[in-house]
Amino acid sequence: MALSDSFLWGGALAANQAEGAWREGGRGPAVSDIAKYRPNVDPREYAIHHAHTVESITAAMADDDETYYPKRRGIDFYHRYPEDLALFAEMGFTVLRVSIAWTRLYPTGEETEPNEEGIAFYEGLFTQMRRLGIEPLVTLSHYDPPLALALKNNCWVDRGTIALFERFARTCFERFGHLVKLWLSFNEIDGIVRHPLTSGGIIEETVEGSILQACYTALHHQFVASASVTRMLHEMWPESQMGCMLTMLKTYPLTCHPDDIAATQAKDRLLYLCTDVQAGGAYPRLALNALARQGVEIPFAEGDAELLREHPVDFISLSYYMTLAESVDPDAERTPGNTVLGVKNPYLESSEWGWQIDPVGLRISLIDLYDRYGKPLFIVENGLGMRDELTAEGRIHDPYRIDYFRAHFREMIRAVDEGVELMGYTSWAPIDIISASSSQISKRYGFIHVDLDDLGRGSGERRRKDSFWWYQRVIATNGADLG
Ligand code: BG6
Repeated sequence: MALSDSFLWGGALAANQAEGAWREGGRGPAVSDIAKYRPNVDPREYAIHHAHTVESITAAMADDDETYYPKRRGIDFYHRYPEDLALFAEMGFTVLRVSIAWTRLYPTGEETEPNEEGIAFYEGLFTQMRRLGIEPLVTLSHYDPPLALALKNNCWVDRGTIALFERFARTCFERFGHLVKLWLSFNEIDGIVRHPLTSGGIIEETVEGSILQACYTALHHQFVASASVTRMLHEMWPESQMGCMLTMLKTYPLTCHPDDIAATQAKDRLLYLCTDVQAGGAYPRLALNALARQGVEIPFAEGDAELLREHPVDFISLSYYMTLAESVDPDAERTPGNTVLGVKNPYLESSEWGWQIDPVGLRISLIDLYDRYGKPLFIVENGLGMRDELTAEGRIHDPYRIDYFRAHFREMIRAVDEGVELMGYTSWAPIDIISASSSQISKRYGFIHVDLDDLGRGSGERRRKDSFWWYQRVIATNGADLG
């Protein structure tokens, strides 16, 4: 069997999509609170970049509605986590990825002292995880920058945000460092160019100059912040580890025409830019040149280059859902993926949301990343969003989900067999939660069903789907029995 005994199995969630309780415990508003339910968007336009203006944000915040702003209510993980953790433990989880909402600790991002109610919530959560033998894997920033900072100065575009984030991270390490040993700085850090508000707290209408420049300025500040908190973590808790997190959007050339290969190569260069900086310690020259050709300049301050070089991450984590193709043919058929639109691959099937299902692509991605960086990897998101049907007996039969995971696990194990160092696997999401892109819950990912519909109607009751028992068996046999 390829997987080692220390391999971690579990699931992944984000605060803004699960916790709800948006106005409880002293929490301040985050950009996720203004994300509206978007059920009928043409899948080809699916992306989480909402065209918000200061006016639309002000109007949204004056509205108490939780029906059409589903991330405000989530699945009430804030109150129901003991029950949910018990179900995860029943499945045999040895790891759970969650995120800390910055605005539960620092409601506007600028306070000088943390909000003790927020601290108490996460302390309770991590303590309970440890009691159940579940290792916390904690993301510091997952799509929920403080709204106050977004409105004040476009959050990460302003270099001053680095110091605010350092303060937040220091509090997390001081107060939770004895419970949490595995950290991630930014979820899908590369996403900022695809959804500037969600990742970077950037309100496009208020940006002076080019939005692309604003995104790369903000990204650079996040790189610097990430390296700085990596150094801080190592100083405070030398045995703890920090990872970066990449949206692994692997692209294949649609044909072997050299122009398609060259176009794919150019895409890959930007795909790997973030890991090149966070794991490799420097911006690659060709990526910098490619950005310069688009008028983008990276705002290096004194000491940035040394900080990035001297404090790379300990491991690389990735989300993996699908792959896309690339072609220079402008008429090539397109399909949506995870916050992107790309060329359709004729060899792959797609989900209702257009995401192309590609288990072999997971093996290819793991090998590519390991070949390139030689650092341990961690799959921290992978899963299939589908509609589920509740039978009259209250059961959910989800063979499609089991098939998806089985095929991906086979390829993951093959990659490990070939020599890839893989620390663990957390599915997205082990329990149904609110979708990041569309704010639906009907795009269900979980092994556990939550009795709520898209408008929040239902009891919230948790039910085990067929896949629950299947995953339990996979974990119990460390991947030897895939059914
Ligand atoms: C990842 C995000 O990109 O994709 C998650 O980190 C998100 O937050 C997941 O939920 C699945 O996307 P969606 O839009 O189906 O929820």
